[in-house]
Amino acid sequence: MSGTCDGGWYPLMLSADLELGTVAGSTVLGRDLAVWRDGEGQAHVWDDRCPHRGMRLSLGFVREGALACLYHGWRFGVDGRCVHIPAHPDLSPPGTIRAAPLPVAECHGLVWASVEEDGSLPEGDPAMDAAAWVPVRSLRIEAPWQDVARAVGMPDGHRAAALDRDVEGRVLAALLPVREGACMLHLLAAASAGVERLHDLADWGQDVRARAEERAGQVFLAGVVA
Ligand code: FES
Repeated sequence: MSGTCDGGWYPLMLSADLELGTVAGSTVLGRDLAVWRDGEGQAHVWDDRCPHRGMRLSLGFVREGALACLYHGWRFGVDGRCVHIPAHPDLSPPGTIRAAPLPVAECHGLVWASVEEDGSLPEGDPAMDAAAWVPVRSLRIEAPWQDVARAVGMPDGHRAAALDRDVEGRVLAALLPVREGACMLHLLAAASAGVERLHDLADWGQDVRARAEERAGQVFLAGVVA
């Protein structure tokens, strides 16, 4: 998995935050997504909109290997096709009723999705591939992802990279642009890191957030008074 911006792949969340048989919401570039893990452990990413009446699928639940909508209970199998309509239990739902799956991959302790049509996997990043990673935390930051990328020392044009930090040790930082002016920063540590380092890294993430949001606030105020 590449850390550059040109593959169309986005790090949605820490793998550890998506438990077996659960669903969660995510947003990339203003596009709302439902992220769920089936009973076999496979992650799926769909547009967060039920094909029936548009309810958020991320509010639903996983049942018998399918994602069920909270509103009327329609169930959708792993390929997105509707497999069960509770009000018509004997009906075989037409294949045209289906949710919209996106290409998904799971590596480096993260769930990734592609918002591009073909979704072909980009080249692996040797620095990120070179270590096993343990999750530390995810932070929502009310600041442009490009500013946060600079603050963590990300190479130009990258949304994810393995970084060497003096105090915190080897770090994998990954950024998800949520919408204009807001992003998620996911932090992972090399599996060899001790508990102390994990605490240091979590503190560093909070510090990055505070500085980035302070700067974004100053930029906003400067625009208001200009
Ligand atoms: S809105 Fe989802 S089942 Fe009706």
